[in-house]
Amino acid sequence: MNGSMADVIAELTALLGERGVLDDPQDLERYTTDWGGDRLGTPLAVVRPQSTEEVAAVVRFCHERRIAMAPQGGHTGLVGGALPDADRPELIISLERLRRIRQLDPLGFTMTVDSGCILEEVKRAAEVEDCYFPLALGAQGSCQIGGNIATNAGGVNVLRYGMMRELVLGLEVVLPDGRIWNGLKALRKDNRGYRLQQLFIGSEGTLGIVTGAVLKLLPRPQRSLTALLAVASVDAAVQLYGRARRECSDLLSAFELIPRLGMELAFEAASQLADPLASRYPYYVLLELSASGPVELDELFERFLEQGLHSGLLLDGAMAANVAQAQRFWLIREAMVEGQRLRGEHLRTDVSVPISRIAQFVEQASAAVVAASAHATVLVYGHIGDGNLHFNILPPAGLTAEAASGLLQQLEGIIFAEVDRFDGSISAEHGIGRAKQEAYLARIAETELGLLAGIKHLFDPLALMNAGRIIPAQPQS
Ligand code: FAD
Ligand code: LAC
Ligand code: ZN
Repeated sequence: MNGSMADVIAELTALLGERGVLDDPQDLERYTTDWGGDRLGTPLAVVRPQSTEEVAAVVRFCHERRIAMAPQGGHTGLVGGALPDADRPELIISLERLRRIRQLDPLGFTMTVDSGCILEEVKRAAEVEDCYFPLALGAQGSCQIGGNIATNAGGVNVLRYGMMRELVLGLEVVLPDGRIWNGLKALRKDNRGYRLQQLFIGSEGTLGIVTGAVLKLLPRPQRSLTALLAVASVDAAVQLYGRARRECSDLLSAFELIPRLGMELAFEAASQLADPLASRYPYYVLLELSASGPVELDELFERFLEQGLHSGLLLDGAMAANVAQAQRFWLIREAMVEGQRLRGEHLRTDVSVPISRIAQFVEQASAAVVAASAHATVLVYGHIGDGNLHFNILPPAGLTAEAASGLLQQLEGIIFAEVDRFDGSISAEHGIGRAKQEAYLARIAETELGLLAGIKHLFDPLALMNAGRIIPAQPQS
């Protein structure tokens, strides 16, 4: 960094005003940790620009002064990408004041937003115009559209609508030297050469700061049906998924696996929840069907239910009688994740395998984990329709923090080795950030790494923007 810290703060304040710059240690606290409670270093300061031009002005300033930068959304990312670095002081550029819904076109089914808009607010704004933005995840009350784009977020409706990558038509990005790239086109078809915006989606803030986006909308579903179904095994859940896809007229919008332990964790985290079924079962499926037109979902679902019971795949089930009950079913899914956090340190993974091999993978990975640690608890849940499982581990009780952390690291290696055997991915939706970098680099071919490093160097030759996330930081020139 060139210049004294006081000069830097004064110049940033001149660019953004008093409210736009935070450097009091108390104010910085909120930007130093993330949802999981992890922390690494302390930021140089936090800036809170209010417009694309202000973001560009700050980035230009940092580029001239060789100041390292880290964009930050709602800090709900699960791989440590938004945390300020421990070794090199970074300026956190928070997008929290870029909150405008710029335009909504209900005829073209598109919406243009600032990147700091909270996902839930975007979904609500779409509904006001009888439209639907389908990205849905537990963190939607605090994560931002820019964070969703940077991580290529997935969630519970991917099997029908795709990941964030499939929901973005155009982007506006401030490049690491402060230039603005305007790719805010609202076109369904545009086949001119390389798709630059696709390169930014999932790049975790390493190639530039997303400031605006054109999102794809759909007609708002008029009818939906939510059910909690009980099955005997992961294999039964996967078989049932195949049937649901065939028998529910392409109207399946969610198919989530929840193990019994997941239900218990949900009840621990949210005491107002009760078990919708009278008996306990090894596994559950949270299923949703939705339609934007006058489709008789009940009839369709009842037929599916009858055939499921008849085939023996389905053991029991409860269909939500109204919207409030459907919300309670979904709260079980969300509270399960919170309940896991409340249990303390645990291993969080985010893997994918081909859908037809899910059951075999769970069986073999569970056996490998138990062989290494007989008292570790496997908690496997997730997005069956995407082949994406959160194959998580709660450590045995009574271990010191150090021993638990060592064991979880060892078990992660064992699980990832199984993922490799199934030709899967060690990161299906949360990204690489810092947390998955070692495992990622261990699996990437030199040719591919060289290409990725070349792309990073092209956009950010001085390695100032989110350096060290995804791939190791390049030396500063
Ligand atoms: P942050 O955490 O602030 O940042 C994430 C990364 O993006 C960082 O590297 C940051 O530098 C970068 N970044 C942020 N904003 C920008 C920007 N404007 N321009 C460039 N880079 C930027 N993920 C799923 O895919 N599916 C799920 O089902 C899911 N469920 C979740 C449930 C819970 C309870 C939680 C806490 C997280 C969940 N996530 C899930 C993780 C998911 O990655 C994040 O919730 C979300 O996409 C991150 O958004 P954010 O605004 O919080 O980003
Ligand atoms: C989920 C997050 C953790 O599916 O991805 O709950
Ligand atoms: Zn998930």
